[in-house]
Amino acid sequence: ERTIKLALIPGDGIGPEVVAEAVKVLDAVAPGAGVEFDKTTFSLGAARFLETGDVLTDDDLAAIASNDVILLGAVGGVPGDPRLKNANIERGLLLKLRFSLDHYVNLRPTVIYPGVPSPLAEHGEVDFVVVREGTEGPYVGNGGAIRTGTPHEIANEVSINTAYGVERVVRDAFARASARRKKLTLVHKTNVLTFAGGLWKRVVDEVGATFPEVAVDYLHVDAATIFLVTDPARFDVIVTDNLFGDILTDLAGAISGGIGLAASGNINPDGAFPSMFEPVHGSAPDIAGQQKADPTAAILSAALLLDHLGLTDAADRVRTAVVADIASRDGRPARTTAEIGDAVVAALGAPETTPTH
Ligand code: NAD
Ligand code: IPM
Ligand code: MN
Repeated sequence: ERTIKLALIPGDGIGPEVVAEAVKVLDAVAPGAGVEFDKTTFSLGAARFLETGDVLTDDDLAAIASNDVILLGAVGGVPGDPRLKNANIERGLLLKLRFSLDHYVNLRPTVIYPGVPSPLAEHGEVDFVVVREGTEGPYVGNGGAIRTGTPHEIANEVSINTAYGVERVVRDAFARASARRKKLTLVHKTNVLTFAGGLWKRVVDEVGATFPEVAVDYLHVDAATIFLVTDPARFDVIVTDNLFGDILTDLAGAISGGIGLAASGNINPDGAFPSMFEPVHGSAPDIAGQQKADPTAAILSAALLLDHLGLTDAADRVRTAVVADIASRDGRPARTTAEIGDAVVAALGAPETTPTH
């Protein structure tokens, strides 16, 4: 039996509620997959900061990094809380983890499952994945302001795009497209952002030449938002920068039945650091502590975690159970977070066994 060291960062708001359900599901599929999860829980987030003043200590980071894989719920307080100024949780915790652990592939799949109440009337078969660059762009904190608070204030937030960083994520996106329906769409804004856009376009052309089986398409980000609503079935793999990817994946969540279903992985494909899996949504302070959150996004993030560990059969078992649970929702009364987790566990069924004779 393989022991997998799993770091849990439940975080704030609904984070602990949804992580509890994802852990239930992981523990339920572990025996059939021949693994055991050795879990360590880290108390991090806005609540810890308000209590102790700590955001993410060097010891926390080192301890987290010593695990094989990380499952995070959500971190962050109520938007606008004056005690949480300067994005200390978003930057000092979530982005610090993504940057320090070199999570350069932010993988965000979208599937419109049968029976899901999508706001799109006729959408066809929607199954695409956004490969969002995770370590660069305007997220790096290369910025500053002068003359702050005066009418002459100048505020800069520079988007960093390195040939190294763009190349490695584009290569990963092509490899994923090659293993899927062989279509890759670069999303950028090359008509205005000519320097960064030019780099992305050139790298896609160069790397694309080594993946002749993959058809390449390009969309400006504004047009991409149109097609995500009018024709999302056209997409297979979308590759884009950190900020465009952030925005597009909330929209992708909304068209596929809500943010409560949207899963993600912050992946270090090289395996030098543990990868981190988390729902796309935040801590949802408006519904926290009421068992109203849908844990499906966290459960599907756990399925991505299983994929990453090479436990594909277990991951597929989880996804099949989730699809069955979603299909059974129509017309039924709302359930609690824990009831949904229990229903997914119940829907897992028996693992496929390998015949021994
Ligand atoms: P949010 O995603 O927390 O909430 C947006 C809306 O979606 C709310 O109405 C919420 O109730 C609903 N929602 C979210 N998840 C849901 C679920 N699982 N089931 C049902 N409804 C759900 O976004 P926000 O309000 O902009 O952010 C709240 C806090 O979370 C902020 O501090 C923000 O910085 C942080 N945040 C953290 C992460 C993360 O940890 N990865 C991601 C996004 C936002
Ligand atoms: C997400 C979130 C984060 C991001 C924030 C909270 C830093 O919106 O995971 O999508 O912008 O990446
Ligand atoms: Mn986001």
